[in-house]
Amino acid sequence: MTDKDNPTAGVARASGETVAEILSQDRRKAPAPLLESRYEFLGDADIPFTRYTSREFFQSEIDRLWNRTWQWACRQEHLQEVGDTWVYEVGPYSVIVVRSGEDTIQAFLNSCTHRGTKLFAREGSGYSGGFTCPFHGWSWHLDGTIDNIPARWDFPHVCDSGHNLQPVRCEQWGGFIFINMDPQARPLLEYLDVLPDHFQHFPLERRRIRLHVQKILPANWKAAQEAFMEAYHNFETHNSPNGANAQYDIFGKYVSRFIHNIGNYSVDALEDYPGDKWRNPPLTENEILQILSAYGLEHEEVPAGETARSVAAEDLRHRLGKKWGLDLSGISDSLMLDSIEYHLFPNMFFFPGINIPMVYRFRPNGDDVDCSIFDLMILEPLGDGETHPEPPDPVRVEIEQSYTEVEELGWLGHVYDEDTSNLQMQQEGFKTSRKPGLTLGNYQEARIRRVHMTLDDFMAGEGGAAEDYSGE
Ligand code: FES
Ligand SMILES: [Fe+2]
Repeated sequence: MTDKDNPTAGVARASGETVAEILSQDRRKAPAPLLESRYEFLGDADIPFTRYTSREFFQSEIDRLWNRTWQWACRQEHLQEVGDTWVYEVGPYSVIVVRSGEDTIQAFLNSCTHRGTKLFAREGSGYSGGFTCPFHGWSWHLDGTIDNIPARWDFPHVCDSGHNLQPVRCEQWGGFIFINMDPQARPLLEYLDVLPDHFQHFPLERRRIRLHVQKILPANWKAAQEAFMEAYHNFETHNSPNGANAQYDIFGKYVSRFIHNIGNYSVDALEDYPGDKWRNPPLTENEILQILSAYGLEHEEVPAGETARSVAAEDLRHRLGKKWGLDLSGISDSLMLDSIEYHLFPNMFFFPGINIPMVYRFRPNGDDVDCSIFDLMILEPLGDGETHPEPPDPVRVEIEQSYTEVEELGWLGHVYDEDTSNLQMQQEGFKTSRKPGLTLGNYQEARIRRVHMTLDDFMAGEGGAAEDYSGE
């Protein structure tokens, strides 16, 4: 059923307190962007399973999406010295990002302009004074201009400028280096929509990579990222009362968000869920503080007149502020505690929170439609005046390994195991279903629909180029 003209479709919400009501009761008030909410009903038609399983659809994404959309390749901190390189790969595409001058970062296709050989074998960091092809030794300066062609006498037909490395659009925001293989792409800042405005309040350029974990997941890249776009799964997957009243925002074609509160469980929102484990009797503030103790809190009890949420936020301000040499006294309870997740089309997630400070990126794994690469970074705030240290190398976790083997993830290890535990069964379930597609909730799963709608624009050849920008 499609109910696009029904004025009540998408209007229903969970019972109990809303995120906005919880934020309004906080001891330290949230900044303006967190008080905004924006949602519109986008339709309720099923999403075909073939978008996750078909080779043809996957190939269309390679041909029409991945070579035309902005995507972050690495962080500025990966390229601190002139000559530092990072190779980024997505599907068949490979891009070299290089600091070619003190203030210049450029990107090029990782392909020799003689007979096409890759100049770097695989993704990751490196350093070079210039680029040399391992096959016949053609070489280029860091700015991509040709340096030397051995046996130049045999190439009178080669004009140097036509054989410079092939440039790739490269722009920066929030400490991230984005690339786009479409020369006609609109500027990154337009594509980012509300992100630059909202993230003025939580500058990601003043953070550093504390941990980067990279894992192969047994599902199409869209199914994998969609496991992180809603809090509807929390009850069943995480056995948690958390997020049943989450707020979902759609800011346009490219940006969406959820906010779900930590430390205020609005258990009335669970009225339709099986059992009454969390509701009867409702959790006391001390029991909530117990749940939050995984964050490493000083208090074991909630003082009279306080809430677990305000106590936990204050304890974290002290502990983390001291650890990082930062004054966090002005940071709102929400930013200290909550799971606040912005998604940027097609595959990027940015969390502005202090205690939940993640960045995710999902992409195809080579040409395998059933498999994806999940990059997870934890971005820690830098101390006042502190410069970026050398970033850590990615920790690679094999498909069958547990996230709990990555000690630095702490309490998050088992959460990521839970989040990723359904993926293989989902990818397999797509293929055995007689029903042709996924059914989505009108509100809680609207962000997933928004991604598919924008993906359709790219499939129709209208998604990324500047002249197609509708200003929506
Ligand atoms: S293929 Fe690169 S120098 Fe020949
Ligand atoms: Fe989850």
